[in-house]
Amino acid sequence: MTDPAFDADTLRERALTTLTTARARTTLLTSCVEEPDLTAQHSPLMSPLVWDLAHIGNQEEMWLLRAVAGREAMRPEIDGLYDAFEHPRSERPSLPLLPPAEARHYASEVRGRVLDILESTAFHGTRLTEAGFAFGMIAQHEQQHDETMLITHQLRKGPQALTAPDPDPVPLFTGPSEVLVPGGPFTMGTSTEPWALDNERPAHRREVPAFYMDTTPVTNAAFQAFITDGGYDTERWWTPEGWAHIRQHSIHAPLYWQRDGKQWLRRRFGVTEVVPPDEPVLHVSWYEADAYARWAGRRLPTEAEWEKAARHDPASGRSTRYPWGDADPAPEHANLGQRHLRPAPAGSYPEGESPLGIRQLIGDVWEWTASDLLPYPGFQAFPYKEYSEVFFGPEYKVLRGGAFAVDPVACRGTFRNWDYPIRRQIFSGFRTARSAGDA
Ligand code: AVJ
Ligand code: FE
Repeated sequence: MTDPAFDADTLRERALTTLTTARARTTLLTSCVEEPDLTAQHSPLMSPLVWDLAHIGNQEEMWLLRAVAGREAMRPEIDGLYDAFEHPRSERPSLPLLPPAEARHYASEVRGRVLDILESTAFHGTRLTEAGFAFGMIAQHEQQHDETMLITHQLRKGPQALTAPDPDPVPLFTGPSEVLVPGGPFTMGTSTEPWALDNERPAHRREVPAFYMDTTPVTNAAFQAFITDGGYDTERWWTPEGWAHIRQHSIHAPLYWQRDGKQWLRRRFGVTEVVPPDEPVLHVSWYEADAYARWAGRRLPTEAEWEKAARHDPASGRSTRYPWGDADPAPEHANLGQRHLRPAPAGSYPEGESPLGIRQLIGDVWEWTASDLLPYPGFQAFPYKEYSEVFFGPEYKVLRGGAFAVDPVACRGTFRNWDYPIRRQIFSGFRTARSAGDA
C-alpha cells in the first residue's frame, strides 16, 4: 500500500491514540454506575459489565503481551473465566469473576506493559505485527466490547447513568428516496486495509446487477406506518420462522417501544421519550426488517449490494474505504464513537454521502442485509478461528455500516458484523432495496 497514512510511524501513533480512546470509553462505561450494577447480569443475553472489563484486559494480554512480545501469562488461572467459548453469557455471573477493583487493576496493568512494548515492537516481520495489526485488532476488540457494554447499559433498568449531546439539527432531507446503482462488477472486501479483520479479506471482484437503494435508513415514521397498517398481524409479510417467533414472543413493535394512546414512546438509556419520527428505526430484528421490506414492496439489500453502494466509485471504478472516499471518518462524515447516544435524523451527514448520494451508510444504525455470514473466496482464518470462522453459515445474518455506538477504528466500508435474525438488543436498523428490473 502506497498510502502515506499507512506508514509505520503513523500506524504506531494511531495504535496509541486508538488504544487510549478505547480505554477512556471502557473506563466511562464501567465507572458511571455503582458496583452492584457492574456485577449484576442485566439480561441473560449479556455478560456482567465486570466480565467485559476483565475480558478486554485478558484478550489484550493474550495477543499483545504473550503472542506478540512473548511474555509469560500474568494470571494463567483466570484465562478460562474470560474465554467467551468456555462459558456462555448466561453463565458468567455465577463464575468466580475478578471483583470490579481487581478487574480494573488487571486491565490497567496489562495496558501499562502494552504501552512499553508498543514502542519497541517492529511493525513488520510477522503477520501479527505487520502494520501493527495486533494492536489495531486489540483496539477494535476493546471498542467492540464498549459497544457490547453500551447495549448492556441500554438493557439495564433504572435511572439514567450516561448522557451525551444530541446530534445537531439538520435541514429536512429533500433528496430522492432511492437511487439506481448501475449493474456491473466491483471490488468487494480488502487486501490492503492494514487493520481489516480476516472476514473482510481478500479483495475480490463481484458482479452486482443494477438495483435501487434507499438513500437513507428506514425511519421510525415509516416503520410506524407498517405497524398501523397491521404489519405485525399479517402473516404474508413474514418468513415462517419470523412469524413463529413474533407470535411466540408477542412482539408488536421494536424493542423498548410502548404505546401511549395514539403515540409511541421508547425507553433510551433510562429516559422515556416520544419516538422521534425522523430518526432511523432502531432495535429491530432481521425478521422485522425483512417483513417491513416485503410490506413496502421491496427487500433487504444483499451484503454485496450494500458494499457496492457504500464503496464503488462509478467515476474511477475503484472501491473506496468509505462512502465519502478514503479519508478516515471525521465528525462531519458520520455519527460514530458514542459521541451521541442515538442515531441522527435520516438524511443527516451530507458530507458523508456516497458518490450516488446515499447517506448514513456508515454510523447511526447497523443495517441488516439479506445475506448469511459466509467466507469470501480465498478466506483464511487469522489470527484465530473463533473470531469469524466458527460463525460462518446460515444461522447468522450480516449487518453493515456500524452504529452511533461504534468507534471509527471498528467501522469501515468493508467491516462485517453478524447476529442471529431474532436479535434486536443490538443497535440495528436497516434500509431497503429493489432489483432494477422490478416495477
Ligand atoms: C463481531 C460483534 C459479533 O461481539 O460477538 C468480541 C465481536 N468477538 N469479542 C461479538 C467480538 C470477540 C463479535 N461481533
Ligand atoms: Fe471479546
